[in-house]
Amino acid sequence: MSKKPSQSKHRLRSTEWFGRHDRDGLVHRSWMKNQGIPHDQFDGRPVIGICNTWSQATPCNAHFRELAQHVRDGVLDAGGFPIEFPVMSLGETLMRPTTMLFRNQVAMDVEESIRANPFDGIVLLMGCDKTTPALLMGAASCDLPTIGVSGGPMLNGKFRGEDIGSGTHVWKFTEMLKTGAMDEADMVDAESCMSRSAGHCMTMGTASTMASMVEALGMGLPTNAAIPAVDSRRRVLSRMAGRRIVAMVHEDLRMSKILTRDAFENAIMVNGAIGGSTNAVVHLLAVAGRIGVTLTLDDWDRLGREMPCLVNLMPSGKYLMEDFYYAGGLPVVIREIGKYIHKQALTVNGRTIWDNVKDAVNYNEAVITPVSKPFKPHGGITVLRGNLAPRGAVLKPSAATPKLMRHKGRAVVFEDIDDLHRRIDDPQLDVDADSILVLKNCGPKGYPGFPEVGNFALPAKLLKKGVTDMVRISDARMSGTAYGTVVLHTAPEAAAGGPLALVRNGDLIELDVAKRKLLLHVSEQELARRRRQWKASKPHSDRGWVKLYCDTVLQADEGVDLDFLVGRSGAKVGRESH
Ligand code: FES
Repeated sequence: MSKKPSQSKHRLRSTEWFGRHDRDGLVHRSWMKNQGIPHDQFDGRPVIGICNTWSQATPCNAHFRELAQHVRDGVLDAGGFPIEFPVMSLGETLMRPTTMLFRNQVAMDVEESIRANPFDGIVLLMGCDKTTPALLMGAASCDLPTIGVSGGPMLNGKFRGEDIGSGTHVWKFTEMLKTGAMDEADMVDAESCMSRSAGHCMTMGTASTMASMVEALGMGLPTNAAIPAVDSRRRVLSRMAGRRIVAMVHEDLRMSKILTRDAFENAIMVNGAIGGSTNAVVHLLAVAGRIGVTLTLDDWDRLGREMPCLVNLMPSGKYLMEDFYYAGGLPVVIREIGKYIHKQALTVNGRTIWDNVKDAVNYNEAVITPVSKPFKPHGGITVLRGNLAPRGAVLKPSAATPKLMRHKGRAVVFEDIDDLHRRIDDPQLDVDADSILVLKNCGPKGYPGFPEVGNFALPAKLLKKGVTDMVRISDARMSGTAYGTVVLHTAPEAAAGGPLALVRNGDLIELDVAKRKLLLHVSEQELARRRRQWKASKPHSDRGWVKLYCDTVLQADEGVDLDFLVGRSGAKVGRESH
């Protein structure tokens, strides 16, 4: 199993640190030896960085110290030299104002940590939503051999005889509390029953979607997406990833050989087939931007929109990730859509994606339906355009109400999130079930940070009347665990002077999902008049990360990376340590 360093066809970059016979070599080795590393471990074997997003403030990743240990064991099995290193973690449930404000900061942390240290290959430990794209982005800009290991979903939530899903039931319970169908004691009971094991959200939310993207892109080993966090096979997968990354270094199998245009197209199609989160759109656009693959919003519509949704999981369906894994997991989905995908796309195990999945067996067709009898006819993301979203907006049809997908209504406008909180439940609010709710200033610059508030709750007075969905339009994102007829990522955002900023109460808005249209029925002259009156709001901060972010962040249609971070500069360092 173990490979001698001589089996690498190329000189390893770690040799520049540990293979030296001078003062610097002494310094590099000596301080590492204080961790009990024997001298013979500096013999030129591949040095593997294990990039860990462990944090107790990121509950979804709180088991990562143990996972890292299994990766270390695998690296040692294969004759490598593991070095675990931390990066900033992003916990969806605690961080304010939103983890998305910090995704690019973590990507910078990852990129610079990799480049500055003597790593030949990288294992990325990723789980809670933003940790996955942040690590992929940072690593892509360095382009070393890299393998992704996801932390795995929690076990199914179980509450009073029913399966409950993380996130999805938070929205349901919140509505039930508003209508009086549930009291606070019930809520406390439910919260204990929802998160009952290590792992990330076990619905097909953003974490599970992004773990699926890791596998579909070829960046993770087969079955990476769905093995529950506490299943022993997650530990085995981690160990196998540790073994495999050493071989990838020997083969010089870099990220850029895996993250090709074909790989991104496969991932978009798989996102449609799993009914994945709308957040995957911005994250994949950003990762593609880092590795140098041209990907656009229109690729999402063209490749994903018509893809049948095969996976009957919350929030669009009934089951949860544990069921998905027992049914066969993502390999079954990819095999089912085999006629669409690029079968020759290479994956981290050195095999093609098709070789990895062609023999996958479906053990439960209620959870993963055959492509001939899909769970929903379309699972992908629709890209809407029109004078309200000249650079696009997105909607997830599988999570929307069919009769609202063609709808005209009068706008009820909320200028920002505070305005929404102040007035949405006001009994005097002039709103009915046909109104279109518009929320401004929740985009990348506006909030700041592009939060998941686009699926905001309906007015209490309408919920009490039994209204379950309304068209909502914003420049925000939506939690992957959420549902509803929600138009998101409207670009340009209101804070950047997009047309969304010009919408007023009572304006007529038309949504036509089949025709990909989002129209504001207000004359050009009137819009021009309103534009002259529009004033940009004052900056959120005059220092630090928030200032850098607001000054340089790209819009949703470009992946919301910082403009100067797009692209890659490899792993070379211009100068030595001292
Ligand atoms: Fe971490 Fe949902 S809160 S994945």
